[in-house]
Amino acid sequence: MAKVNTNYAIDLSIPISHPLVNPAILNQTGDQTEIWFANHSDVSDEFRSWLDSLGLVITYPPLIFYTPKGKQCGIHIDGHSPDADRAVMNWCVQGAGSMMHWYKLKEGEQPFETTDTQAGTPYIQYHPNQVNHLYSHVVKWPTIVQTGIPHNIHNNVWEPRWLISCDISRKENPEAGLTIAESLEIFKSWIA
Ligand SMILES: [Fe+2]
Repeated sequence: MAKVNTNYAIDLSIPISHPLVNPAILNQTGDQTEIWFANHSDVSDEFRSWLDSLGLVITYPPLIFYTPKGKQCGIHIDGHSPDADRAVMNWCVQGAGSMMHWYKLKEGEQPFETTDTQAGTPYIQYHPNQVNHLYSHVVKWPTIVQTGIPHNIHNNVWEPRWLISCDISRKENPEAGLTIAESLEIFKSWIA
């Protein structure tokens, strides 16, 4: 298998069975994509304790992205700036055959829309003709992914997909998040 390009994705093998107390909160069945925040109380003790042992905290409650089968989201950046470095820990539930893609913004291109998600998080959107494809990867259990550059998800037609997205910070700077380079250093013992 080709080596993972860790500029975009870092597959981890960590001693955590589930980041959520109750996976049954992933119960959406509609045919539209949905994005919402879980609660801090939905984070499992085992995950919280493991992060604590590494000097880490969850920046805000997990964001849940529901993608029905056969659906995709548009090309976007999660954040306020067009070329950031924000690594988050994503856990993919179902979504067999789904794929995350990353893109490089073409010179001089501006977003066609800057908005918020249903969860109120910043969301900058681009058209496919404004970007060049860089890399693709299957998000696993879990995978650290770069969300500060344009990216999107294509789900396949077989089953819905739930994505549990955990933004993580160091305790001493609990709102800063992590960069890809910081994540590689912090999680070096667990890279799959
Ligand atoms: Fe995203």
